[in-house]
Amino acid sequence: MPLENLSLQEEILKLKEEKRAIILSHNYQRDEVQDIADFVGDSLELSRTAATIKCDVIVFAGVNFMAESASILSPGKTVLLTEIDANCPMADMIRVDSPRPVRKSFPGFDNPPQYVYPVEFTLRDIKAQHPGVPVVTYVNTTADVKAESDICCTSANVVKVIESLPEDKVICIPDKNLSMWAQKNTKKQVIAWDGFCHVHERVTPDDVKKAKLEHPNAVLMAHPECRIEVLEMADHVTSTSGMLRFAKSSSEKEFIVGTEIGLLYRLRKENPEKVFYPLRRDMICPNMKKTTLKSVLRALKENNYTIKVPEHIRVPAKRALDRMLEVK
Ligand code: 13P
Ligand code: SF4
Repeated sequence: MPLENLSLQEEILKLKEEKRAIILSHNYQRDEVQDIADFVGDSLELSRTAATIKCDVIVFAGVNFMAESASILSPGKTVLLTEIDANCPMADMIRVDSPRPVRKSFPGFDNPPQYVYPVEFTLRDIKAQHPGVPVVTYVNTTADVKAESDICCTSANVVKVIESLPEDKVICIPDKNLSMWAQKNTKKQVIAWDGFCHVHERVTPDDVKKAKLEHPNAVLMAHPECRIEVLEMADHVTSTSGMLRFAKSSSEKEFIVGTEIGLLYRLRKENPEKVFYPLRRDMICPNMKKTTLKSVLRALKENNYTIKVPEHIRVPAKRALDRMLEVK
């Protein structure tokens, strides 16, 4: 490890003690950020941890909706997001009641995919079109969207959440791929939104064919944010931590990993006798990679960037998150 990282680590650990702080990291964070964290996990695990953890300060190494969820669930704690502009483009694809921004490219890519978001509908429009139909909202959304929703879900529990509702029809926002995956796994009718994660959406069936040709003995694990055609070619579809559990318990030795490449660090660390290949080497979320050890230290030193969801949004958003956390 570089000497600079060693001294940064020491400073972080010292300040963390002094401030009674806990560092939470998503599985997509840089290797060294995962190493300094008290807890590394998927969105569901991070929500559960944020709801129960005992500390004064939560330092969130992730993207903004994750820190917002921590603030919603733990209003008495100071929640710090390590980089203020670490956002999730998918979360920006749905707005409660004002038109969504039209984005044509994603920073951090040499050859960015040119996606145009449809702007004409909002969450209130879609609710008005389907009166009485409950809204199941992926946690990758802003707090105000959660506040307008009946229940939240993550990639780990979307089907269980939908099945927990008494209604036969649900609106599922914002990820079309997650919604289509849910539709394949439930008898209920799922009304999907057309949002997507640009990291997973870029994977095509040709990428899968190529990876399988290169690694004929490998098992393909894919995240449900991938396109449905890709998911149909996968051996196992699950959340990031679901992939960790699957790889650990499987008797297979080789795995193709269909998600952001940050997960490969934990997969390799926890399974040194197994081999992991990225499905595509450019499955990189630029926003997840904004956080460095320096950002973690700065967050602790300067007490920023504080994320505080206002009460009128926090209370209804918490109801939707709590309802999800109650689903067994
Ligand atoms: P999970 O870790 O919950 O599978 O989510 C993936 C993701 O895209 C988080 O931004
Ligand atoms: Fe958003 Fe995709 Fe990045 Fe997750 S990986 S934060 S869904 S853009």
